[in-house]
Amino acid sequence: MTIPHLAERRAVIDACLAMNRLGINQGSSGNLSIRIPGGFLVTPTSLPYDEMEPEDLVEMGFDGTYLGSRRPSSEWRFHRDILQARTDVDVVLHAHPSYATAMAVHGLDIPSFHYMVALAGGDSIRCAPYATFGTQALSDHALAALEGRLACLLAHHGMIVLGRTTKAALALAVEVETLARQYSIARQFGDPPLLPPEEIAQVLEKMRRMRYGQPLDTDDRPEDTARPRYP
Ligand code: 13P
Repeated sequence: MTIPHLAERRAVIDACLAMNRLGINQGSSGNLSIRIPGGFLVTPTSLPYDEMEPEDLVEMGFDGTYLGSRRPSSEWRFHRDILQARTDVDVVLHAHPSYATAMAVHGLDIPSFHYMVALAGGDSIRCAPYATFGTQALSDHALAALEGRLACLLAHHGMIVLGRTTKAALALAVEVETLARQYSIARQFGDPPLLPPEEIAQVLEKMRRMRYGQPLDTDDRPEDTARPRYP
């Protein structure tokens, strides 16, 4: 019997294994979901990624019902609520990387100390208030913190990153963790000066024009790039 959505299942497992390799996650912390017609696939709860097989992923509907032999991630509510509300993305990644989590323990947003903060869609990466893992309250806080953004921190918990693809979400997760690390180091020299909102607005506009941070596919060329001289 062929297993439905096999390519998506494999993409999720590959991204989970990559999170481990990149040091974004450890043990069975974190979870990942991907949109499929009528719902989404989500990683099962408490199963280490290196033991995960395609059939272990749980198929869920937006009504919270699910198919499969495993129980869905304890965080299925925020995966469902985000995928339902944010039709601009198809992947939700949740992880507990050390520097982003250290900032989240202090309830700190990542401010505009570096222009790359704009990759997440605005002039800061917000930290959502604390709520117990797996609760509707946590999902509500996360959705609010993600307003107009592709990433947020979760107080005393970790981070959520959104993307069109597993690859894009993974790349942004690495970037957010790097920003948190850089910010933590920069603070050792005093309060880092911030880029003003007008500059971040310019950076956002330039990133939009260049499709900065997104791989180029076929003819999908940024507006301000001349054709390459060498094919
Ligand atoms: P699950 O194993 O239930 O996905 O939980 C991991 C986690 O990070 C909870 O926030």
